[in-house]
Amino acid sequence: MLVLGIETSCDETACAIVRDGKKICSEVVATQIPYHRRFGGVVPELASRKHLEAINTVVEETLFKSGFEMEHIDRLAVTVGPGLAGSLLVGITAARTLGAIHNKAVFGVNHILSHLAVNFLTASISLPYIGLTASGGHCDLVFAKSHDEFEMLARTRDDAPGEAFDKTAKMLGFTYPGGAEIEKLAKGGDEGAFKFPVPRFKDGSEDFSFSGIKTFVKNLIPETDEERLPDLAASFQNSVANIFSAKIIAAAKQKGCQRVLVAGGVMANSCIISHLEEECARNSIQLFYPEARFCTDNAVMIACRGFWQEKSLPLRPSPDLKI
Ligand code: KG4
Ligand code: ZN
Repeated sequence: MLVLGIETSCDETACAIVRDGKKICSEVVATQIPYHRRFGGVVPELASRKHLEAINTVVEETLFKSGFEMEHIDRLAVTVGPGLAGSLLVGITAARTLGAIHNKAVFGVNHILSHLAVNFLTASISLPYIGLTASGGHCDLVFAKSHDEFEMLARTRDDAPGEAFDKTAKMLGFTYPGGAEIEKLAKGGDEGAFKFPVPRFKDGSEDFSFSGIKTFVKNLIPETDEERLPDLAASFQNSVANIFSAKIIAAAKQKGCQRVLVAGGVMANSCIISHLEEECARNSIQLFYPEARFCTDNAVMIACRGFWQEKSLPLRPSPDLKI
């Protein structure tokens, strides 16, 4: 089955054609990041206008690169949420229009579950699994019983991990988005140099929290000498990795499931992935993670999700779509 995926939930206008959720026929990502950088983050109203400017060219180029015409496509898949309302609307309208003109089924898909679905591109993974999506806007830990049945185990109550990376990077003088800059700064740093607090809720909740470590690093920055900044960045990164591994291991025990998929922009971080590999191996957990370029937003993941999903979500922008 040939699926054409469209992604416009945030600051990437992306399109991809994937065969059977396994073979990428073509892929185009037009990023708006350099445009939003001057504002220090994504400006929603400007993002939707940029999507509108780019969407037709991005879809046409994807088709051109694949050598296919719309008549060869079996299904369209498009992100319906979560994301920015105006931006989602551009992708959904494009998909619905193409679907109507060419008489194709259009599948609305969840962006967070799509991040996880890209893992199926290169690996044969049995179900059930535990999935952790860690991105600039989300941190969701789910238990997938099937490709259409998900149980939410934990989510962030405050900042998303990518947001904590971006805000820390900003405090250190880096431009948006700063996750990859922190990773670079942390190279050669001592991850044990600073002891970060472990977030815990008074009500015993298993949810995630990243605002505490963000505030902790914020207070340390002014009093840290320049040559110790790599240690600080490495310790910050390590504290995020520790939060992830603790939650993953607890969820695996709770659900009796030793299969874990991770995804989302923050999983492009090679130190975090090495840490998770070690901790999962120590606990006999099988870990799957995507290639770094498929961790950040793209449309390959949307086409993959569109292949595995049985039913379409309603084709309307759902900015706060839950699992
Ligand atoms: O998944 P994504 O592209 O967009 C959302 O759905 O939010 O994630 C973007 C986030 C940004 O916060 C960015 O700083 C972070 O992923 N990120 C990283 C790295 N590369 C991207 N965080 C840590 N280390 C990285 N190497
Ligand atoms: Zn994303």
